[in-house]
Amino acid sequence: MRNTQVLFKARPEGWVNDSHFEIVESESRAPREGEVLVRNLYLSVDPYMRGRMRATKSYTPGFELGKPLHGGGVGEIVESQSAKLPVGSYVSGMLGWENYTTAAAESLSLVDPALAPLSAYLGALGMPSMTAWYGMQEIGRAKAGETVVISAASGAVGQIAGQMAKMTGCRVVGTVGSDEKLRYILDELGFDAGINYKTVDSLGAALDEACPEGIDVYFENVGGAMLDAVLARVNPFARIIACGMISQYNLERPEGIHNLMSIIANRVLMQGFIVSDHFARMPEFHAEMGDWLKQGKIKYREDVTQGIENAPAAFIGMLKGKNFGKAVIEIAKP
Ligand SMILES: NC(=O)c1ccc[n+]([C@@H]2O[C@H](COP(=O)([O-])OP(=O)(O)OC[C@H]3O[C@@H](n4cnc5c(N)ncnc54)[C@H](OP(=O)(O)O)[C@@H]3O)[C@@H](O)[C@H]2O)c1
Repeated sequence: MRNTQVLFKARPEGWVNDSHFEIVESESRAPREGEVLVRNLYLSVDPYMRGRMRATKSYTPGFELGKPLHGGGVGEIVESQSAKLPVGSYVSGMLGWENYTTAAAESLSLVDPALAPLSAYLGALGMPSMTAWYGMQEIGRAKAGETVVISAASGAVGQIAGQMAKMTGCRVVGTVGSDEKLRYILDELGFDAGINYKTVDSLGAALDEACPEGIDVYFENVGGAMLDAVLARVNPFARIIACGMISQYNLERPEGIHNLMSIIANRVLMQGFIVSDHFARMPEFHAEMGDWLKQGKIKYREDVTQGIENAPAAFIGMLKGKNFGKAVIEIAKP
């Protein structure tokens, strides 16, 4: 099959730009025994992919120069050399940034298009939502009445984490990068307060106003100045869910944090985690989140970019906060 691919062309230092990608045309490879050919429908645009562009070792293998980028995706089986995945079935798993990916059948999981729109398997029923689900339940352990602050609150992880905290009966405060995002978390998701960190004069003063009783749980998605401002306002025995620090991903030298002493003085638990360590719990997550979605207890928003050739722009835009909701690329309609 004719295949448009997005290759990783050059390793960025600092901000990612178009010169780090190359779009090429090629032919897909026919599947061998145990493999399938997937017609890619949706690809996920995720912040952790910036880490995979570095030469340094991390918790996921880096992208190889000259090869297609790859990440979470959903597609349809169009050729199969595996009894497990018949032609016409829909799957999710790690797929290339291309129209067609040849993959080992055992690396893919069947998904049910009747349960949710297929793109949701990359967001509200996928890895980012499971990140919110795991982090809130296992690390945040928020109780009714507590104040929970969520950063990048309108994004893939943040929108789910905030609604989970609301379901628990917490006061939920979100920080976002635009007034449109602010209206979404307040009016549609029911957050109690919100802060557009790009327009406030003082982040500290804005947090003081939004969190008059201090902060009990912080869902950390951005790091840097936000983390510092939160650390200065945490209550004794606060929990910080160290999920991501996107404000640092494109810096050649990460910013320093000044208020770390607060962790000792306030006996704060700050725990990092990587959701893929917990993928064995995916069925449990699917069952619980699936119910919440069906009952309308959890809502979500997606930011869909059309066309594989626009994937680099979607990725660069997401790192700059241009996405409003879970960033996905639609390559083809189911
Ligand atoms: N630990 C894990 O296993 C795991 C799994 C998934 C994701 N994560 C992390 O979770 C975080 C959110 O990921 P996501 O997939 O939900 O992405 P997302 O929130 O949908 O998109 C990224 C958002 O980050 C915000 N942002 C970008 N630069 C920023 C800056 N300098 N300061 C503050 N905010 C900034 C932007 O929103 P605004 O316009 O609001 O600034 C942007 O829309 C990321 O840090 C990611 O690495 C961790």
